[in-house]
Amino acid sequence: MPESAQLVNLQIPPRTTIVIFGASGDLTQRKLIPALYTLDVEGRLPERYAIIGVARSEFDDESFRAHLREGVVAHARLANQDAAAWEHFAGHLHYCQGAYDDPATYAALARQMAELDDACETCGNHLFYLATPPQLYPVIVAHLGAAGLNRKGANTNDGFVRIIIEKPFGHDLASARALNAQIHDVFDENQVYRIDHYLGKETVQNIMVFRFGNAIFEPVWNRNYVDHVQITVAEEVGVGQRAGYYDTAGVLRDVFQNHLLQLMTLIAIEPPAAFNAKFLRDEKVKVLQAVRPMRPEEVPLATARGQYRTYRDEPGVRPGSATATFAAVRLYVDNWRWQGVPFYLRSGKLLASKATEITVQFKGVPHKLFQESEASSPHANFITFCIQPEEGMHLRFETKVPGAGMRLRSVEMDFQFGEEFGQTALPEAYERLLLDALNGDASLFARADEIELSWQIIDPIQMAWDASNTDLSVAAGGWRTETAPALEFYEKGSWGPPGADRLLAQHGRHWRLTCHKK
Ligand SMILES: NC(=O)c1ccc[n+]([C@@H]2O[C@H](COP(=O)([O-])OP(=O)(O)OC[C@H]3O[C@@H](n4cnc5c(N)ncnc54)[C@H](OP(=O)(O)O)[C@@H]3O)[C@@H](O)[C@H]2O)c1
Repeated sequence: MPESAQLVNLQIPPRTTIVIFGASGDLTQRKLIPALYTLDVEGRLPERYAIIGVARSEFDDESFRAHLREGVVAHARLANQDAAAWEHFAGHLHYCQGAYDDPATYAALARQMAELDDACETCGNHLFYLATPPQLYPVIVAHLGAAGLNRKGANTNDGFVRIIIEKPFGHDLASARALNAQIHDVFDENQVYRIDHYLGKETVQNIMVFRFGNAIFEPVWNRNYVDHVQITVAEEVGVGQRAGYYDTAGVLRDVFQNHLLQLMTLIAIEPPAAFNAKFLRDEKVKVLQAVRPMRPEEVPLATARGQYRTYRDEPGVRPGSATATFAAVRLYVDNWRWQGVPFYLRSGKLLASKATEITVQFKGVPHKLFQESEASSPHANFITFCIQPEEGMHLRFETKVPGAGMRLRSVEMDFQFGEEFGQTALPEAYERLLLDALNGDASLFARADEIELSWQIIDPIQMAWDASNTDLSVAAGGWRTETAPALEFYEKGSWGPPGADRLLAQHGRHWRLTCHKK
């Protein structure tokens, strides 16, 4: 490093450079750059920072900035700022064109980063973001290693080197293990931030505050009081542009392995001794270790699968595809707190509305004191966490209907984030997660063991489904085959196939939609 650069670096804070691979893509334009822009407007990015986009597409700095501005105008939470706000942000944006498998790309990138770091190659903080299709993750990681971009320098002014990796992380346990091994060849685990943007949502983090920031709920949060838990992640849209990827993945890999299991884990974890990345993730791992592995013979009765009726007409979907676009699954967590309490998880595409919510259904009263008639007998209480698009909570309990006698009616106590904190108060998940990664807080990112345990839960179900030799035309009207439930077709705008309802009905239960009444 030249002496002058050394002097500069002693006097001013190190520069932070965020390098986004796949920077010409949808995620960068719709989510990452709008989030970084908002952080810039709020003055929450480091004092000296730069963002370098890497991709093969033809851009120079100017055209790259113009392309990203469209995304900011359309998607940033604080998009309505004056032109000066954009100009300030745009001045930090740079482009580096190159192929992901070409060493010359990384040499050019290293030069560009060094220039931004005042000609000091190992100075500054470096955050890499892999926003490419997943097959490129190992390629990029290996090249970063070969170019020496994975390491901090030996100087005292050297900063951190971290890498954020997008989902999907593997497509089964074996591939996730292989990817972890490839990453660990180049980066230490404490440099790796595996993103699941659900964990960046305020409403998801609120689950932990609700549970561990209040004294009154935790005593009833166990098998003695909870009848069951149900988690719904419903999408209104179909597979759209993602059909090629989706048809090889399906709903279990796309959302169960990550979002649904993460939500379930937060409902089920024990309170960590302290709120830090290690303790929190240790507790999450303990829950995943306790999830009962599904035996092949259980799959037909403990799962349901569906496909929306027009799925095979989507461009990019294989003819006769048996890919499930809907699934419902019953899991058990075999530990002292949750023994015998079913966790029902469901998700699907092209459903009646977009809705992510979690309901903790409590047991009924032990003795029905007020049973004047069946209609007015007490209903069991429940608490619902509305994750998106509604953001809030509901608590349902029984009240006395005014008048003679003792008639009961269920009422709901509501809390809405928007009403309480203002409509624009909730930061986007990517804002929070990018800031956490910059600050070195990995609490809301998945650790290697967490990812592998999640696949260990999903794999037996996916394998049983894949192995089923279901004759789809017959099975569409039937119930189940030997190894898997039948793939049932469902209509656009419905709540999925009848099998999902049967999964709960076999034990006298039903799905709830509390946040979304449509
Ligand atoms: N989009 C979302 O909302 C979203 C949400 C959650 C997770 N993710 C994950 O984030 C990652 C990026 O998503 P995305 O939607 O931005 O992806 P994308 O638009 O399909 O791809 C990003 C960029 O990667 C390059 N690319 C695409 N296909 C390639 C190929 N076959 N070979 C080499 N380069 C290729 C393209 O850039 P160049 O051709 O210019 O190099 C493209 O602009 C994916 O892993 C996705 O699963 C996305």
